[in-house]
Amino acid sequence: HGVFTYDPGFMSTGSCESAITYIDGDAGVLLHRGYPIAELAQHSDYLETCYLLLYGELPNEAEKAEFVKTVKNHTMVQQSMQKFLEGFRNDAHPMAVMVGLVGALSAFYQDHMDINDPKHREIAAFRLISKMPTIAAMCYKYSKGQPVTYPRNDLSYAENFLHMMFSTPCEEYKVNPVFAKAMDRIFILHADHEQNASTSTVRLAGSSGANPFACIAAGIATLWGPAHGGANEAVLTMLEEIGDESRIDEFIAKAKDKNDPFRLMGFGHRVYKNFDPRAKVMRETCDQVLAELGKSDDPMLKIAKRLEQIALEDPYFVERKLYPNVDFYSGIIMKAIGIPTSMFTVIFAMARTIGWISHWNEMISGPYKIGRPRQLYVGHTERSYPKK
Ligand code: CMC
Repeated sequence: HGVFTYDPGFMSTGSCESAITYIDGDAGVLLHRGYPIAELAQHSDYLETCYLLLYGELPNEAEKAEFVKTVKNHTMVQQSMQKFLEGFRNDAHPMAVMVGLVGALSAFYQDHMDINDPKHREIAAFRLISKMPTIAAMCYKYSKGQPVTYPRNDLSYAENFLHMMFSTPCEEYKVNPVFAKAMDRIFILHADHEQNASTSTVRLAGSSGANPFACIAAGIATLWGPAHGGANEAVLTMLEEIGDESRIDEFIAKAKDKNDPFRLMGFGHRVYKNFDPRAKVMRETCDQVLAELGKSDDPMLKIAKRLEQIALEDPYFVERKLYPNVDFYSGIIMKAIGIPTSMFTVIFAMARTIGWISHWNEMISGPYKIGRPRQLYVGHTERSYPKK
């Protein structure tokens, strides 16, 4: 007779079994298929990590070469997607454009779409991994009023993305290897994070048997918010607003004030009650990129490090176990590379696509049921329609 527990925000509800990613939030541990995130960030690269997430094992050399080749086969998008793009206002937020364009992929790629066929699911994964950077760069170019730059398959995944972002018909962008390495790390660090809001959304959308591109568009929509992927953009806006170390205390006081909705962006996590292991790698990468640019004394970085130090000592943050999360340093890195703030969440979406599609594939491969939570009804009891 319908005994069910009510768990808003799914604070303690397990929705599925998964063999992809393990998190121990208290210990600050994140493993993909058993491998620690810091080791993957140090020794692997993004496409290899994609292979690992999708297939469960690291590839050997031949498997990796084949995977990279196949992904590169799919980097272009159909030319008529351009018309879709042109339907948007130039000043549209690139996440809004991204939701639209990725949703539209479901109409452009209708072949190989039997979700019960593992080969078809694999092709959908290839298409998504390789087309996301192309679409992300298209969004950026459109906002700048510049023509789209076509992908270059002789470049690595990260190099190609930077090329599509910054090359113009007049000038080929020379990719700085330190920047390419930093971008690749950002992609690895965002690749998956088990049943977060956007991944759960992709699984829920997929549980009805929906088209995978449409499911990913639902994930992108969920990622957009500032409590999730939108935090990286919010961190930079916050650091810019603070502007000077002398104003840090004022913002810390605002974050602690329960009558003020302001939160310290880039701090806190639903699962991590310890240092987010991704934030450590991100801070290291941030130092490398700024050193390369000769900007180790960047005022933004100084504010960020001071904020982190205060938060690690202040009882408000200590008692609530609010540590810097993955988004705290990623924005500073991307800004230094020349990527505008409005693209930060788009880049998160690009990188997380492999996580989303791996979870979708894992779900469809096994027995699953349509996701259908119940509710606690708090409205009117039955009443009669008023007689006229
Ligand atoms: N600044 C100030 N206080 C905070 C913050 C913060 N960033 N985060 C949590 N708190 C306080 C909150 O007010 C509450 O205090 P009290 O117990 O006195 O009411 C307590 O800490 C617990 O917070 P909660 O909202 O119940 O925790 P949650 O698990 O629901 O929220 C969170 C997690 C990530 C949404 C939240 O920490 C937050 O809003 N952080 C800032 C946004 C952010 O950086 N998001 C990125 C998350 S990581 C990347 C991703 O997943 O996309």
